[in-house]
Amino acid sequence: MTSPLAGRRIVMTAGPTLEAIDPVRFISNRSSGKQGYALASACAELGAEVVLVSGPTALNDPAGVETVRIESARDMLAAVETALPADVFIAVAAVADWRPAEAHDRKIKGNKGEMGSLALVENPDILKTISQRKDERPGLVIGFAAETHEVEDHARQKLARKGCDWIVANDVSGDVMGGDENAIAIVSSDDVWRSQRASKPEIAGLIAQRIAQAVVETC
Ligand code: C5P
Repeated sequence: MTSPLAGRRIVMTAGPTLEAIDPVRFISNRSSGKQGYALASACAELGAEVVLVSGPTALNDPAGVETVRIESARDMLAAVETALPADVFIAVAAVADWRPAEAHDRKIKGNKGEMGSLALVENPDILKTISQRKDERPGLVIGFAAETHEVEDHARQKLARKGCDWIVANDVSGDVMGGDENAIAIVSSDDVWRSQRASKPEIAGLIAQRIAQAVVETC
């Protein structure tokens, strides 16, 4: 087996984040983590040293990958920063955009009318934070975009807004979230590469191969 990513360190995020309201309630989303875990495995199979910072998922830790389990977006960012420096950073996680302004340390009583409204504050944007780092910015920073229409246009806008090098765009108008198949476009400032529809592990293998080609040139 060839190991084109041997000697390369890749830090990545996957899964949802979980934002506590109180000890028993939270805000989260339906991300399964499947695409991120498959990509972590594919990069490890090509020889990379992979650190996967994962929100809560039902998946087993991928073989040959250092998996760091966290819950909140703030903990995810801290774990990513601890894991740097790296050659490549890949943000696959479906980070909750908002968290409760206050996480109550006691269960809020449902029958006492305490939960009249829930004040929210914005979470850190992990991809943007890592893309815009002055020190230890990985040579290749990759984000994901789940869109339902005008997928490549939105990916291009996201590339500029986040400051990353690639956006891996997928059309989630079907059953991609939680499903087993995917089709992607990798959008960079001067190129678009489109895949066929394939299983998430196959898509992961294709992305890992393109990363391997790119690190030789950029990192
Ligand atoms: O802005 P949007 O959520 O559509 O961007 C998606 C990309 O940004 C994904 O790569 C996701 O992992 C990353 N992201 C992040 N931190 C956030 C929000 C999104 O790293 N708070």
